Amino acid sequence: MSWKEVDKGWGDQAKVWAAVMEPRWWPEFDAVLRATNVGQDMDYLDIACGSGLMVNMASRRGARVHGLDASDRLLALAKRRTPTADIRHGDMNALPWSDGSFDVATSCRGIWGPNQDAVHEAARVLKPGGCLGLSFFSAGREGSQVGKAFHAIRRLSEHEIDWSKQLGAIGLEGRVEEMCEAAGLIASERQSVQFDLEGADIEHEVRAWMSAGPAWMAIQERGAEEVERSIREELSELEEPGVGVRTQVLIEYVVATKPT
Ligand SMILES: C[S@@+](CC[C@H](N)C(=O)[O-])C[C@H]1O[C@@H](n2cnc3c(N)ncnc32)[C@H](O)[C@@H]1O
Repeated sequence: MSWKEVDKGWGDQAKVWAAVMEPRWWPEFDAVLRATNVGQDMDYLDIACGSGLMVNMASRRGARVHGLDASDRLLALAKRRTPTADIRHGDMNALPWSDGSFDVATSCRGIWGPNQDAVHEAARVLKPGGCLGLSFFSAGREGSQVGKAFHAIRRLSEHEIDWSKQLGAIGLEGRVEEMCEAAGLIASERQSVQFDLEGADIEHEVRAWMSAGPAWMAIQERGAEEVERSIREELSELEEPGVGVRTQVLIEYVVATKPT
C-alpha cells in the first residue's frame, strides 16, 4: 500500500483513535521521552505521530516539536492538540526536513520490520550526537496479552497474518539493533516498559481496536460485524468484574545515537 493510501484505514476513525485508543499508550510515550531526555530548547520530531499525543507530551517538556504522519485526518487532531507544533503530512521514508535538523527523533510503533528506509531517514535528519528512540512490541509472548487483539483481527485474513509477521520482526533479537547500525546509528541496550491497556468493558475494548488501521484492513475483507465479533470473542476472557478489560502490553525500546 502506498503511503498516500494510509489515511483510508488509519484516518477512518481518527477521532475514536485519538480519544479512546491513543491515550492508553501514555506509559510507552513517557518511557521513550525520558530515555531520550527530551526537554527544554531541543528540536524534537515524532515520526508516524498519529493524532499527536506524544508530540503534545514533548511540548509540555519544553521541546520545539515537530510531527509527521501519512494520515491527514489523524494530523488534524494532532494540530488541534498542539497548535504551536510543526505538523506535516508525508511519508516517513522521505522526511520533509533537511539533514541534521533534530536533537531527538522518536517513533512509537510507527517504524516496523520492513521499514529500514525510514530508519535511514531518521538518521539523516538527526544532528550529529542526536538520538533516535524506537519502540515496538516485544517479540516474546511472556508478559504480553496484546497478541490476542492482533490475532482476533488478523486471523480473518491470510495476507494479514503474513504481513503482521513481517511488521513484528523488528522485535526479534538483534533486529532493531541491525536496522539502526545499517543507518549509521549506535543502539543502546534494549529497555522495556510494561503496562495494561484499560477498557471499561468489552464494548469499550472493541471500539478501541476497531479504530486501528489493521482492523480497517480486515473490515474491507470480512465486514465490520465479523471483525467486531472476533475481537469480542478473543478479548472477553480478559474482562474482570468491577475492573473492566485489562490487556497487558510489553513494549521494548532502544535509543540509538548518531556519532559526532
Ligand atoms: C500504530 S500507529 C502509531 C501512531 C502513534 N505513534 C501512536 O503511538 O499513537 C501507526 C501510524 O503510522 C502511520 N503511518 C503508516 N505508514 C506511514 C508512512 N509511510 N509514513 C508516515 N506515517 C505512516 C499511520 O498513519 C499511523 O498513525
